[in-house]
Amino acid sequence: MSKMLEEIRQQPAAIEKTLQSGLRQAEILRKRFEKSRPRLVALAARGTSDNAAQFGRYLIEITTGIPVSLAAPSVSTLYHAPLRLEGALLVGISQSGESTDTNMVLEEGRRQGAMTLGITNEAGSSMARLSDQVMLVRAGKEISVAATKTYTGQLMAFYLLARALGGPIDVSDLERLPDAAAAALKLEPEVAARAERYRFMDHAVVVGRGLNYANAFEWALKLMETCYVVAERFSQADILHGPIAMVGSAFPAFLFTPPGVTWPVMRDLAARLQQLRTEMLAVTDRSCPQAPRGAIVIPARLAAGGRRTARGLPEDVFTPIPYIVPAQIFAASLARIKGFDPDKPRGLSKVTQTL
Ligand code: F6R
Repeated sequence: MSKMLEEIRQQPAAIEKTLQSGLRQAEILRKRFEKSRPRLVALAARGTSDNAAQFGRYLIEITTGIPVSLAAPSVSTLYHAPLRLEGALLVGISQSGESTDTNMVLEEGRRQGAMTLGITNEAGSSMARLSDQVMLVRAGKEISVAATKTYTGQLMAFYLLARALGGPIDVSDLERLPDAAAAALKLEPEVAARAERYRFMDHAVVVGRGLNYANAFEWALKLMETCYVVAERFSQADILHGPIAMVGSAFPAFLFTPPGVTWPVMRDLAARLQQLRTEMLAVTDRSCPQAPRGAIVIPARLAAGGRRTARGLPEDVFTPIPYIVPAQIFAASLARIKGFDPDKPRGLSKVTQTL
């Protein structure tokens, strides 16, 4: 069995540990932010960690109203242009804590007056050393080059950060997430069997919206690096602004269709793709009003409802962690079916150092 699949299976324990150990740090940060609330949050990361940042952007903006920007590392690493970051919180996200440019952005941001926070899986890393504050992902060593358990750990860290920034997120809701991930893992035999049909796939699109937009990036990245599939990722709105023209019969499309505000637009997209006779596979859960035809349905009801939506949380707020699990299993299974080793994608190593 691949390390990737082993690590996918470790996720309920990894997110549980990240939550339990992160609560104290979240409380320290909450007290600090109560005294001085950041006017802006900037996020710096690469690859899978950057996809987690994309999720963090939606979560923090939706739950706290603080504007979030995704840093463009070359502004400081290549152009050396100083940014005015007084009063901003600059967050670096890195599994290894050793991505050169992410760390350089943090160092420069600190010089420019930002408070810096590192979210990393490696307590002894350069990132942990150079950041003012650290939020540790407790996923255990990640061996497979394809990041999986550290991605969901980073998503958990973002829930804790949003809570520290004043977002109305209850610990009891976060405590349900390991079980939600475990429910998604039950789909492994079904997803592995469904992947067989895609043995000869060499191109695809992946579509999400809102809080699951980041997951579209992440599913596509896993398909690219472990299965060598050209996987383009879009928001449901962006694909309609042109790229849908390339999608036709037998063109594979992968979708996230959670309950909540994105459901009506994703349902309409699924209907349009069906008319185009697209080869479509959607991920959803039991609380979704109506699953698209042939969907992979997580055997749990994941919609936030009642008191939680009354607090201003959207219905899909707790879907991204369990929803990425079948997508990871799909990529690990398809790599095996195609005869590739997902733990050692060609030409890649675990730490990539770019500027
Ligand atoms: C994804 C992957 C890479 C890393 C990226 C960032 O599976 O392996 O895209 O996510 O190189 O690495 P870290 O998080 O260590 O900074």
